[in-house]
Amino acid sequence: MNAAIRAVVRTAIHNNVEVWGVRRGYEGLIHNDMVELQSQSVSNIIQRGGTILKTARSIGFMTETGMAQSYENLKRREIDGLVVIGGDGTFRGALEFSNRYKFPIVGLPGTIDNDLNGTDFTIGFDTAVNTVVDAVDKIRDTADSHDRLFFIEVMGRDAGFIALYSGIATGAEEILVPESRSDIDGLVKLLQEEWDEDRRSAIVIVAEGDEAGGAYEVANKVTSRLEGFSHRVTILGHIQRGGSPTCNDRVLASRLGNEAVTAIIQGRYGFMVGIVNGLFHYVPFAEAVKSHNTPAIEMLKLVDVLSS
Ligand code: F6P
Repeated sequence: MNAAIRAVVRTAIHNNVEVWGVRRGYEGLIHNDMVELQSQSVSNIIQRGGTILKTARSIGFMTETGMAQSYENLKRREIDGLVVIGGDGTFRGALEFSNRYKFPIVGLPGTIDNDLNGTDFTIGFDTAVNTVVDAVDKIRDTADSHDRLFFIEVMGRDAGFIALYSGIATGAEEILVPESRSDIDGLVKLLQEEWDEDRRSAIVIVAEGDEAGGAYEVANKVTSRLEGFSHRVTILGHIQRGGSPTCNDRVLASRLGNEAVTAIIQGRYGFMVGIVNGLFHYVPFAEAVKSHNTPAIEMLKLVDVLSS
């Protein structure tokens, strides 16, 4: 997110447009918590995780009073356009607010879950998934040396992108994602066969939103029917949401932040800007919140082929 903020600020200043940062997302709009940003305000942040503006999940912005207060604050400061960075909730808020007050807003896709329509990748996904790959590679050393079965739970809310990409990249024996029905019987059979063939370590990546349950639940279901395996469960948790962003994330955020400001200056708004096949793609907020992006079926099938 910092790389996106930097791109927004520097593009605005480059075009002689004054820019203010809103602290804690929509909460800052309601409470008039804004700070003028200069070029130096965003120096040395492109490599930092998190967001210098802080963020919050705002209940207040979902209310009429909260939105009216936000509009008042924006008008009083003579702000003409807004760039918002976030996921589904952010765009629902943007849709409602722009419908109500006809306020120019452009959205940037920012979530580690990668579940937004209209962009191949969301800001943060590449960093999160690389953190998971690094962690799973390390866990693999114990799994392998101690002949252990690991169930590793990764984030993603209702989406399986983090599980799928990290699972493919680490050669996981099985990946359970919400987008395809998890076959616990099949998993038990696969692990039993591995055991019979003297392969006594394995890694199962479980997306937190999988319908079979989280890693602990899946581990119980599987190990209660398996003889022999020693197993462990690891929940990777919030390490997935922090840390220095990858090169891909920095470039993605820089391109999108720049395009968002360019669009507003040109009088184009009311959409999320993403990148599809290398090119900018504009999705009206109403479309962006209609459904979620899902991984290609071909990717889901790949796991079965490569882990056999
Ligand atoms: O939507 C991003 C995400 O990191 C999900 O992957 C995860 O389920 C959730 O947010 C965690 O939210 P919190 O930090 O509020 O527990």
